[in-house]
Parts: sequence; structure tokens; C-alpha cells
Amino acid sequence: MSESKPNNSGKIEKARLHVSDLRVGMYVCELDRPWLETPFSLQGFEVDDDEVIDEVMQYCQHDYIDVDRSKVDDFIIDLLPPGSFLNKKSTTFQIKDIEQAESIRKQTTNLVKTLLEEIRYGMSPDIQLAKLAVSECVGSVLRNPEIMTFLVPLRSKDGHAGQEAFNACIYALVIGHLLGFSSSQLENLGISALLHDMGKVLIPDDILNKTGKLTDEELSIIQTHSRGGRDIIMSSGCLSIGAAEVAHGHHENLDGSGYPRGLQGD
Ligand SMILES: [Fe+2]
Repeated sequence: MSESKPNNSGKIEKARLHVSDLRVGMYVCELDRPWLETPFSLQGFEVDDDEVIDEVMQYCQHDYIDVDRSKVDDFIIDLLPPGSFLNKKSTTFQIKDIEQAESIRKQTTNLVKTLLEEIRYGMSPDIQLAKLAVSECVGSVLRNPEIMTFLVPLRSKDGHAGQEAFNACIYALVIGHLLGFSSSQLENLGISALLHDMGKVLIPDDILNKTGKLTDEELSIIQTHSRGGRDIIMSSGCLSIGAAEVAHGHHENLDGSGYPRGLQGD
């Protein structure tokens, strides 16, 4: 069985799909069984209608689509940029799961953006909405940890605060999941991670976004975001003390070199 792979330009040329993900317009170039055991053309074929999909489902569990020859390639490429899990051997993706994960990513990042705006303008952020978003993230990670993690490195380069928060949330959830955390523990962990850097909204943009070396004064101002984040979470009144502690302590280091308290050890 061959693997999905990108061509020389890095573009994905072939993708492995579960048959339930076949769509009209896709070009099937390989099956999970010999062509001669099926009624299909040896050269591959385009899926013309749903009847073809039903027929493929009778013979196969997985198939491979030629992305270039598929009329839905832009859709797939958009969801699955080169460098994603399509390059991994024997990995199958389920389009509906990716669509759902992408929807949760967008919803969560937009929500964080809204929360930051609310705090910036002195409003009370709706933390309940953040809890609901994290609950969706937990569900997605429990269903398929890989899919959510693939959405993280693909989207983290723009420095978008919502995306950075989402990334932290997903990494924390996946690690928590691997450690055997319960759903409620994951939800606490996830909301703590999602909101851990909220205090940055209190830092003036010209200091926060400065590209050159920070002065000692600017550095000390930035370092106030840990306590600021803790205060935001505490004032919400609907989050655990753990979430406030995560915000307060997320720049502490084991050797005591972190801030704001210079804590050491565990
Ligand atoms: Fe931070």
C-alpha cells in the first residue's frame, strides 16, 4: 500500500481517503485492493456521482485520490497544507473530522480575539463562552488528537493572539490526554492554557510588538502580564484558582530564573 506524498514542489499529489470521504469530482488513482478485483478502470477514474461512491464502498475501505486531477483539490489543499500529516506513512484522514476541527479552531481563535477586545475596552469577558469552546476542543482531542495538533503548527506563524492561545490549549490538552486526564481535568487544563496569556492585552502595543531589544523598563512592563492575567481570571469569578495560578506562573522556571515570583522547583 503506497503512502500519500507531496510532489517535488511540496504540493500534495496523492491523498489517502476513507471511502466515506469520497466526493463527486475527486479522481481516484489507487485502491486498497487490486484493480482487477474491481469493476473500475485500471487507469483510475473520476467520481461522477454518488452512485460511483456507493460502488467504491462495496469494494474498498480506502482509496487514493490524485489531487491535481481532482476538481476539489483547492478544497483539500486549503484544509491540508503541505507538510501536514498527509506526508506521514499510512495515515488516513477523514475530511469531516478535519472540517469539524477547523471549525472549532476558527470558533476558538475568534472567541479569544473577542475576549481580548472586551477586556481592552473594560468590559467583562464572557468566560462561559470560552469554557464552551474549550469543551469542543476537548471533544475533538479525545476523538482524534492528531487532527487538532496538525492544525496548530500550520497556523501559528502569524502571531495572532487567538491562534497562539488555541495552540497552547491544544498542546496542553493533547499532553493531558496522554497523561490520562479525565474530561473534567482536561477542561480545566484547556481553559487555563487558553487564557494563560490574557494579561498581554494590558501591555501597550508599542512595547508588546517592539521588534528591537527591550529596555529594562519595557521588559519589566511586559513581565506584569502574568499578574495582569491572573487578576483578569480572578475577577471573572467563574474560573478555578488553578487557571489563575497558570496565568500567574507561566513564566516561572524550574531554576528560579523566571518571573514574577522567581519560584523554584516543582
Ligand atoms: Fe506570557
